[in-house]
Amino acid sequence: MSKILVTGGAGYIGSHTSLALLQAGFEVVVLDNLSNSSAEALRRVAQITGRAPSFVQADVRDGAMLKEVFAQHPIDTVLHFAGLKAVGESVAQPLRYVDNNVHGSQVLLQAMADAGVFKLVFSSSATVYGEPAQMPIAESCPVGRPTNPYGRSKLMVEDMLRDLAAADQRWRMAILRYFNPVGAHETGLLGEDPRGTPNNLVPYMAQVVVGRLPELAVYGNDYPTADGTGVRDYIHVVDLAEGHLRALQALHFRSGAHVWNLGTGQGYSVLDMIRAFEVASGRPVPYRIAPRRPGDIAICYADPTKARLELDWVARRGLPEMMSDTWRWQHMNPAGYG
Ligand code: NAD
Ligand code: WQD
Repeated sequence: MSKILVTGGAGYIGSHTSLALLQAGFEVVVLDNLSNSSAEALRRVAQITGRAPSFVQADVRDGAMLKEVFAQHPIDTVLHFAGLKAVGESVAQPLRYVDNNVHGSQVLLQAMADAGVFKLVFSSSATVYGEPAQMPIAESCPVGRPTNPYGRSKLMVEDMLRDLAAADQRWRMAILRYFNPVGAHETGLLGEDPRGTPNNLVPYMAQVVVGRLPELAVYGNDYPTADGTGVRDYIHVVDLAEGHLRALQALHFRSGAHVWNLGTGQGYSVLDMIRAFEVASGRPVPYRIAPRRPGDIAICYADPTKARLELDWVARRGLPEMMSDTWRWQHMNPAGYG
């Protein structure tokens, strides 16, 4: 039976997607260097599904190792999550982001081509739209200039995939542009466990509520939005995982490189998120208003129509579920995977 290689499969989105793949009956090989994750996530995946993915601790930039993995397993598709994702860090260390995200993808694509594997699902980001010209954002919107090196690394990989698909018709690629993934598995066993101080709103807020951090800084309340705080399209990570399974199916009958937004189409402000988390946790979220964070935009939410029509996929989980699942995970694992 053919298998699916999941690079970055021990990470936040990759672990939830590996779980969904196993539950759908696929054979999964995870390749991860554990630079931003823990093997404990994979043990939890096995605990929930009753089936363990094969695990290779390796770097995606290691072409020789990839060659071996493709030789050992009958892999037919690659889901490529492996990469670095911290925006601020990418500003300070731009070469590291090119090396990990762009060069890492190049090495993977070469190894795939050498092994005759041409089906790929790539984790892109709404950040490639830059400062969007219209809202909601459809895939037909021109990609802008991303506001940081992380975003530019995603756009570079997207361009590389489009060039490759144009050069060789055997490629079948899904480029998934995620909006803001949040939430956790409903069991509370799997969730987001950022190393160091979280950069993103929801994990930061969750750590404030369990007492790991003193208070949340709300980055600006003078944006042109209903309450002045930034608006984003938060999407439950399990909905996102299901989107990958639909993209896999779509690649059966589509060649070339295709882009799909994975978002809900619904925007929430930072204050909406605080209120929803207070309801879910039954605890207050101490916060103060702080200056705007450089590089942030006021509003960003998806037009998810293309994924609905072409993948038959919609995000089904609403904000209360995103927040209660985040809370269950954080409450059950106050120190993450430990
Ligand atoms: P994550 O850091 O939890 O997962 C990434 C995984 O890749 C980690 O397990 C890490 O150890 C591994 N990894 C990193 N570099 C590697 C390398 N060179 N070789 C092997 N493994 C490597 O992040 P995530 O939130 O699960 O994100 C997954 C993907 O989705 C990333 O490509 C990210 O850029 C993209 N994405 C994330 C978000 C988000 O907000 N979380 C939004 C849009 C896109
Ligand atoms: C959400 C809102 C902040 C933290 C980032 C990346 C993007 C993608 C997803 C990977 C904004 C506000 C945040 C805090 C706050 N990642 N905020 N206090 O910036 O929309 O997107 O993650 O691809 O590329 O840029 O997400 O969660 O950081 O911020 O007030 O401590 O919360 O200003 O309005 P963002 P975020």
